[in-house]
Amino acid sequence: MRIILISAIAKNGVIGRKNGEMPWHIKEEFQHFKNTTMGSALIMGRKSFESLGKPLKGRENIIVTRNYNYSVSFDDVKIFYSLDESIEYCENKNYEKIFIIGGGEIYKQGIPKADELILSHLKFDAEGEIKFPKINSSDWKVVSTEERDQFEIVKYVRSDE
Ligand SMILES: NC(=O)c1ccc[n+]([C@@H]2O[C@H](COP(=O)([O-])OP(=O)(O)OC[C@H]3O[C@@H](n4cnc5c(N)ncnc54)[C@H](OP(=O)(O)O)[C@@H]3O)[C@@H](O)[C@H]2O)c1
Repeated sequence: MRIILISAIAKNGVIGRKNGEMPWHIKEEFQHFKNTTMGSALIMGRKSFESLGKPLKGRENIIVTRNYNYSVSFDDVKIFYSLDESIEYCENKNYEKIFIIGGGEIYKQGIPKADELILSHLKFDAEGEIKFPKINSSDWKVVSTEERDQFEIVKYVRSDE
């Protein structure tokens, strides 16, 4: 099973606001996220799920929280209490690939576990408190880049792959 981390990152590293909002709305970027993740499982932090407000259609939505009393009013959402548990669940369901979709806390813990990063590097700075964690550039190599009006999609795999 391939673990893919997907994110959109402003030029200054910002990925979101601490109140959960995304500082931008780029239809083309959202479409890219949708096309890339459709049919797979998505692992996300509790705060990111709450900022989405509802599960994303056509994908298995998995939330991680440390709160054993956490519940949501949607039947089709899975809740786990650690990132490892959520990944193990996906392995048991024989997913070919799964996506770690944020936010900041989950990316930080997810990077060491990821086989691939699909990052939309936005061409502008954004205001926000939540930043994408620093990655060690020697761990990763670029395998493709796709240019769009407001962003560039860069795929990275492990340097030793
Ligand atoms: N630009 C992008 O691509 C992108 C993508 C996704 C999200 N975002 C943005 O990112 C921001 C949210 O990021 P964030 O860092 O504040 O929060 P987050 O990573 O979405 O969620 C953090 C929460 O996840 C749970 N958690 C973290 N580590 C865990 C672990 N090891 N085991 C179990 N549960 C764990 C905890 O939930 P409990 O507190 O319930 O225990 C924690 O409070 C928002 O602004 C959102 O819009 C941006």
